[in-house]
Amino acid sequence: MTPPEKLVKSRRRVAEHGEVFTPAWLVQEMLDLVKSETERIDSRFLEPACGSGNFLIPILERKLAVVQTRYGSSEFERRHYALLALMCVYGIELLPDNAAECRSRLLSTFATFLNLERADAWWRCAERVLALNIIEGNALTVTASDGEHITFPQWSYLGRGKFQRRDFRYDALSQQSSTQGTLMEDFIDHEVFVPVATFAPMTVQKLAA
Ligand SMILES: C[S@@+](CC[C@H](N)C(=O)[O-])C[C@H]1O[C@@H](n2cnc3c(N)ncnc32)[C@H](O)[C@@H]1O
Repeated sequence: MTPPEKLVKSRRRVAEHGEVFTPAWLVQEMLDLVKSETERIDSRFLEPACGSGNFLIPILERKLAVVQTRYGSSEFERRHYALLALMCVYGIELLPDNAAECRSRLLSTFATFLNLERADAWWRCAERVLALNIIEGNALTVTASDGEHITFPQWSYLGRGKFQRRDFRYDALSQQSSTQGTLMEDFIDHEVFVPVATFAPMTVQKLAA
C-alpha cells in the first residue's frame, strides 16, 4: 500500500507561510481544466507559490508524454523538445528548501525521461535552466531572495539544436497580461514589454558550459 501523501510539513510552516500542499488527485483534476495547454509542449506555466512542485511536476510529465508520442522516433528531436518542455515550466517560491526540492524533482523527472547521468551535458543544461526558471523569492513583492527584481528567461526552440533566450522582468510580464484585450495592449507590447537581455542562439553544449 502506498503511504498517504504528506501535505503539511509542520504546523508552524502552515501558520507562517500557508504551506499546505495540493494532493495529486486534485492537481490532476485542476490541470484537466486546461488540458490542451498542459499537453502543448511550448505552453508556458508559471506558478507564483510553487511549493515543492506539486503542479509543475505533473505539468512537465504531461508535456513529456506528448514529446514521446510526437518525437519518440528521433532521439535528437525527442531530447530537444523534452528540454523545451522543461524550459516552459516556471515557479517562484519563498522558502529555500521548497524551491530546491522543486528544482530537484523537475530535474529528476527530466533526467529519468532522457535516461541521463550526472556527467551528461544535458543534465548540467537542465540544472542551469532550472536555476533560472525556479526562483527563490517573494511573488508578492516581486523580488528574488537577493533583493533584485525577479526576471525570467523566455526560451524558444529555433530548431536544429538551437535555443533562444530572452530575459524579461516579471513585473513587466504581469503588467502585460493585465492589459491584454485593452487599449493599452499595443503600447505595452511595443514600448514596455522589452527584454532586459537577449542572448545569441545556444546549443545544449553551450547552455551547459
Ligand atoms: C498553499 S502552499 C501551495 C504549494 C503548491 N502550489 C501546491 O499546491 O502544492 C503555498 C506555498 O507558497 C509559498 N509562499 C507563501 N508566500 C509566498 C510568497 N509571498 N511568494 C512566493 N511563495 C510564497 C509557501 O512557502 C508555500 O510553499
